[in-house]
Amino acid sequence: MKGKDFLSVADLSSEDIRLIISNAIEMKAEGWSTLLSEKVLVLVFEKPSLRTRVSFEIAMRQLGGYAVYLSPAEVGLGKREATADVAQVLTRYADAIAARTFSHETVETLAKYAGVPVINALSDLEHPCQALADLLTIYEKKGTLEGLTLAFVGDGNNVSQSLMLAAALTGVNFRIASPSGYRVKQSIWDLAHELASDSGAEIFCTEEPSLAVRGADIVYTDVWASMGQEAEAPERRKIFAGYQVNERLVSLAKADAILMHPLPAHHGEEVAENILSGAQSVVLDQAENRLHLQKALLAGMLGGLEIPLSNY
Ligand code: CP
Ligand code: NVA
Repeated sequence: MKGKDFLSVADLSSEDIRLIISNAIEMKAEGWSTLLSEKVLVLVFEKPSLRTRVSFEIAMRQLGGYAVYLSPAEVGLGKREATADVAQVLTRYADAIAARTFSHETVETLAKYAGVPVINALSDLEHPCQALADLLTIYEKKGTLEGLTLAFVGDGNNVSQSLMLAAALTGVNFRIASPSGYRVKQSIWDLAHELASDSGAEIFCTEEPSLAVRGADIVYTDVWASMGQEAEAPERRKIFAGYQVNERLVSLAKADAILMHPLPAHHGEEVAENILSGAQSVVLDQAENRLHLQKALLAGMLGGLEIPLSNY
């Protein structure tokens, strides 16, 4: 993991993921350390962020390092300055770059030209940091990953694509209900099946939300229109109208099922208000775990932390 880029969940092996989760649990209990003293992370964001920005900045601080944030207005990737040039300049200052981009190609270009590891902090294709933090939350709530069933209801977007790969790698059965035309990309679907052949995870796609949710351990949803798709929001609201996660739908899942959402949420749209703030919702644990998981990820990528902390 040390020195490598993290652009997709599939850049990691199932062993890497298990190690990161175990280190994150340890770091959550331990709090602050000096594992990354004198290390610098630069955050280059083309889109807004609450959780990702704040959790990465605080993660670096809690590890003894430092973070510099470049806002959408400041960056101008490919506009004010060629993406390749930005990558090469930042390499002279930073030990790693975390980038939030519209196009996945932009984060790939940064990785190609940067001489330091690049982390995908969300692109149109994937949100791998979210997926890893979600596995940590699931593990904490359920005590295992293998054999669980996660039902994603909604858009085949960056969040669901990373989750599908993460589930396939770690043996979580993954069902996704999306309207036709809004399914996950074929390349992600194919890759997930390839990864699932090792872990034994079952991957299933339907247009019918109740088929996905019936008997599930985890019900997961995300916004219907992602950042950059705002103009499509009215049309998407109509197309996704039958995909709201509400009491009726959640009642089909297991009685102890948890409700997950990466946030920000559109209350009462993709998820009913009483479900989002209800007893089964773990959305704030998910948000908190972004911090702990990213500390373990950064320690692995920058500090060469390869064995669980408890073995030191
Ligand atoms: N879940 C998530 O990535 O949130 P932000 O867009 O606020 O970073
Ligand atoms: N799918 C959403 C996730 C935000 C964290 C988006 O890309 O806007």
